[in-house]
Amino acid sequence: MNKWHNRFSVEEYVFGKEPNAFVVEAEHLISRGKVLCIAEGEGRNSVYLATKGHDVTAWDYAPSGIEKIKNLAAERGVGVKTELSDLTEVEWEEEKWDAIVHIFGHFPKPLFDRTMAGIQRSLKPGGLYVSELYTKEQLKYGTGGPGDLELLCDPKALLEKFDRYFVKHFFIGEEERIEGHGHTGLAHVVQSVFQKR
Ligand SMILES: C[S@@+](CC[C@H](N)C(=O)[O-])C[C@H]1O[C@@H](n2cnc3c(N)ncnc32)[C@H](O)[C@@H]1O
Repeated sequence: MNKWHNRFSVEEYVFGKEPNAFVVEAEHLISRGKVLCIAEGEGRNSVYLATKGHDVTAWDYAPSGIEKIKNLAAERGVGVKTELSDLTEVEWEEEKWDAIVHIFGHFPKPLFDRTMAGIQRSLKPGGLYVSELYTKEQLKYGTGGPGDLELLCDPKALLEKFDRYFVKHFFIGEEERIEGHGHTGLAHVVQSVFQKR
């Protein structure tokens, strides 16, 4: 089983039950339609989006995370479709999603490249890619995220990937993030809302 399954196999929600602040900020940009949350962990963002009336599917490869997503959705009285899904293998269907939400899912470069290509294939025209990721500067902050430079995001690489998209929002800089025990304190992040033309 993967390391995230072990990390999430505790009663507490490692990243808390409340949504990521950028998801809350960007929610009004997402039209009512099919929303996919990738690397969704324990469900805080997908459940929040479901409470706002979105039709939400959550993917993660940690079975314990999927269980927690289901429990949190039940606790909040909303429906979230869950799929145990490993991004190294997942099939990306063409033009399926109105929005894809990607919060602090950090991958080695080959998986990052695969995932970004999949997202672009799978968004409908007009669909949104919404993400908040730690930048490589985050190593100096020590307030969460991977301790491995390769896994942290290079904002320029992200912009290059989406160079054909309309940029609705793009931000690089410091944000305070208090999200369970997993993320605590001032952090260096890159936020994106890119729209497929
Ligand atoms: C830092 S957590 C973020 C969880 C969630 N997005 C949030 O903001 O609370 C990173 C997530 O990436 C998931 N992940 C890492 N590699 C993955 C892979 N190959 N396929 C699917 N999920 C993966 C982990 O299981 C974990 O839930």
